[in-house]
Amino acid sequence: MLDDIQSLRDSAREDIESASGLKDIHDLRVKYLGKKGILTSYLKSLGSIAKEERREYGQTLNETKGLIESLLNGREEDLKSSELEKNLASESIDVTITGRKIPFGHLHPVTQVLDEIISIFISLGFTVEDGPEIEHDFYNFEALNFPKDHPARDMQDTFFINDDVVLRTHTSSVQVRVMENNSPPLRVIVPGKVYRCDSDVSHIPMFHQLEGFLIDKNIRMSDLKGTLELFIHRVFGPETSIRLRPSFFPFTEPSAEIDISCVICNGSGCNVCSSTGWIEILGAGMINPHVYENAGYEPDMYTGFAFGLGIERVAMLKYGINDIRLFPENDKRFLDQF
Ligand code: PHE
Repeated sequence: MLDDIQSLRDSAREDIESASGLKDIHDLRVKYLGKKGILTSYLKSLGSIAKEERREYGQTLNETKGLIESLLNGREEDLKSSELEKNLASESIDVTITGRKIPFGHLHPVTQVLDEIISIFISLGFTVEDGPEIEHDFYNFEALNFPKDHPARDMQDTFFINDDVVLRTHTSSVQVRVMENNSPPLRVIVPGKVYRCDSDVSHIPMFHQLEGFLIDKNIRMSDLKGTLELFIHRVFGPETSIRLRPSFFPFTEPSAEIDISCVICNGSGCNVCSSTGWIEILGAGMINPHVYENAGYEPDMYTGFAFGLGIERVAMLKYGINDIRLFPENDKRFLDQF
């Protein structure tokens, strides 16, 4: 009997020493000390042992139980601490290593150019106004002296919501809105999105414009030219020349198309300026008296000028971009260059 216990101790010691993980310890605890474990079955058989031997045998079994328990606990502690060490080693972080850079975004090139242009006009005393992108036919066309069925409407490739409501085709739609609520002198710019049903390398259906208008007494075309020249010099440099070409807009009279000397070839001729040395940059003119009437101003009281500028076009010339469709695509490889 006592021999059996001795070999039980030996095998338990051997098992426990060779345990390689906490799972093994658990299994061995069940094997030896569990309800159906080996030692438990010895304890259960105590009753069948002769009375005189029972005491000594019982004591030995209890000692064995204590021994196995302490062997298991000891080995368990060892395994736990070596597992901890292993985890510490594998999960350690090197706090001296250089950090990984988080890529920062930045403002879209169109926003950057728009902000630059806005700040130039703010420095000239203009205030910024806003208007709806879904607009009444009245403000987009009628009030600006585009009669219904006038061919000039066709030039605007309008998106219609219904007969009376359009996606504004230009920021000029805000002119009469501002005039209705304010009286001159007015010095206003209106940056914003406009919509036209058109798409190719130089047109996208949604783009940005900046409208500007100045209304007061005795405003002359030379004021328009001076203001635009100063603006162009700030954006493209003082060596840039401008010229005014006669044009037509229903809401300005006279009207002009403003060209700048080609910023790519400095006027000597290249494919951006179609070898002319000039690039068209904006539309402008003296506000047509009909517009004042439509806004409820007394006719002949005021004069003023207006101009409208495509922001993507300015950005393309400034950065030498040859396809306007790159702006709304938002490819990071493109945007990262600005
Ligand atoms: N609104 C015109 C356009 O989009 C530009 C313009 C604005 C012309 C103001 C004259 C005066 O083509």
